[in-house]
Amino acid sequence: MEELLQEWDGEFVVCRYDDRTGARLFVAVHSTRLGPAAGGTRLKAYPKAADGARDACRLAAAMTLKMAVAGLPMGGGKSVLALPPDAAALSPIERRHLLTTHARTLEALHGTYWTGPDVGTASADMDVLRETTRHAFGASTAYGGSGSSAPDTAVGVFYGIQASLRHCFGSADLAGRRVLVQGVGAVGWRLVELLHQSGAHVIVADVAFDRVERLYESLDVEVVAPASVIGTVCDVYAPCAMGGVLDARTIPALRCRVVAGAANNPLSEPADADLLRERGILYAPDYVINGGGAIHLIGYETLGWSAGQVAEHLRGIGSTLVEIYERAEKESVSTATAAEQLAAARLAGA
Ligand code: NAI
Ligand code: PHE
Repeated sequence: MEELLQEWDGEFVVCRYDDRTGARLFVAVHSTRLGPAAGGTRLKAYPKAADGARDACRLAAAMTLKMAVAGLPMGGGKSVLALPPDAAALSPIERRHLLTTHARTLEALHGTYWTGPDVGTASADMDVLRETTRHAFGASTAYGGSGSSAPDTAVGVFYGIQASLRHCFGSADLAGRRVLVQGVGAVGWRLVELLHQSGAHVIVADVAFDRVERLYESLDVEVVAPASVIGTVCDVYAPCAMGGVLDARTIPALRCRVVAGAANNPLSEPADADLLRERGILYAPDYVINGGGAIHLIGYETLGWSAGQVAEHLRGIGSTLVEIYERAEKESVSTATAAEQLAAARLAGA
C-alpha cells in the first residue's frame, strides 16, 4: 500500500467496506482535468484488498489516457469491488446489496466520477446502480442507458487490427490472416464474428470451455488451450481477457507480428513495450485500441451523438493508431511511449 501511495499520481481514492459480502469497494479518481472522471466498475475476487486498490489506481490512470487519446471530454477513474479471495459466488440479494452500497458512494461523489460496466459487471448491474444514482453509463435502454459497450469496443479493436496489419504488412486485408483471440467474452465474441466475416483464420482460447464450445459449433474457428496462447503461431494476438499477460517471460515466447486486443493493461510493466519493440512486434496500446466502449457510452449518453457519429469515432481509432505508429518510428520509441506523448499533448492543451 505504501508503494502504491508513493507511485500513484491521481487525485483521490475512496474506500468503503460492505459487511454483507466482506468486499472492499474502491473508487479511484485519477484525473478530472478534461472533465468528470469516468471508468468501469470491476467486480472480482483479489488475494488481498490492497491488490484491488492497486488495480483501481492503475486502471484509473489508463482511463485518463484513454479519454485524452479518444478526444472525449472526460477524465479517468475506475471502481473495483474487491471480493475476498475465498468468496463463494454472490447470491442475487448479496450482489444487489453490494451494488447499492457502491451506488451510494457514487451518489456521494456528486458526478465527479461516472461509472460503467467492466470485467465482472454488465448492463443489468448498471440498472441496479441507476436505482440509486444517475452516475452510471451503460444501463439498459429501459433504464435510460445505451446498453452494453462491448460490441462497439469490438468494432474499435477490429479497426485497430486492420490499421496494424496495414502498418506491418502494407495491406489491411484480413483474408487468410491468423488472428488469435484470447477470451471470447462480451468483446472477444463479437470480435471473432467480425474477423470471421472478413475472411480471417480465427483461433480462440478461453478458460470458460462452454463458451469456446458454443463458438466452435456456430463458426469455423480453431481452438487452442488457454495455456498454449503465448506460443501459438499467428499474425495478430488479440488479448481480450485479463491484464498482465505480457511480461519478460511471455514476450520472448510470442510467435506473432502484432499485439492488438481489448484487454486493459496487458503489459505487466511499462518496460514490456520496449521488449515488444526489440522483438519487432507491433503493439497497439491498449487504451487507444479499446477506446470504443468509452466512445459508445460517452458519445451516446453525454454528448448526444447519433449512431453515425459513434461509428465515425470508432473508425477514428484506426487513424489514431496510424499516427502513433508513425510517430514511434520517426522518434525511435515504443508505440506505448508515442501514445503517451499524444495523450500528454492533449492533456497539456486542456
Ligand atoms: P468478459 O468478462 O465478458 O470476457 C472475458 C473473457 O475472458 C471471459 O469469457 C473469460 O472466461 C475469459 N478469460 C478469463 N481469463 C482467461 C484466460 N486466462 N485465458 C483465456 N480466457 C480467459 O469481459 P469483456 O467485457 O469481454 O472485456 C474483455 C477485456 O476487455 C477486459 O480486459 C476489459 O477490461 C477490456 N475492455 C472491455 C470493454 C468493454 O466495453 N466491455 C472496453 C474496454 C476494455
Ligand atoms: N470499462 C470499459 C473501459 O475500460 C468501458 C467504460 C468506459 C466504462 C468509460 C465506463 C466509462 O473502457
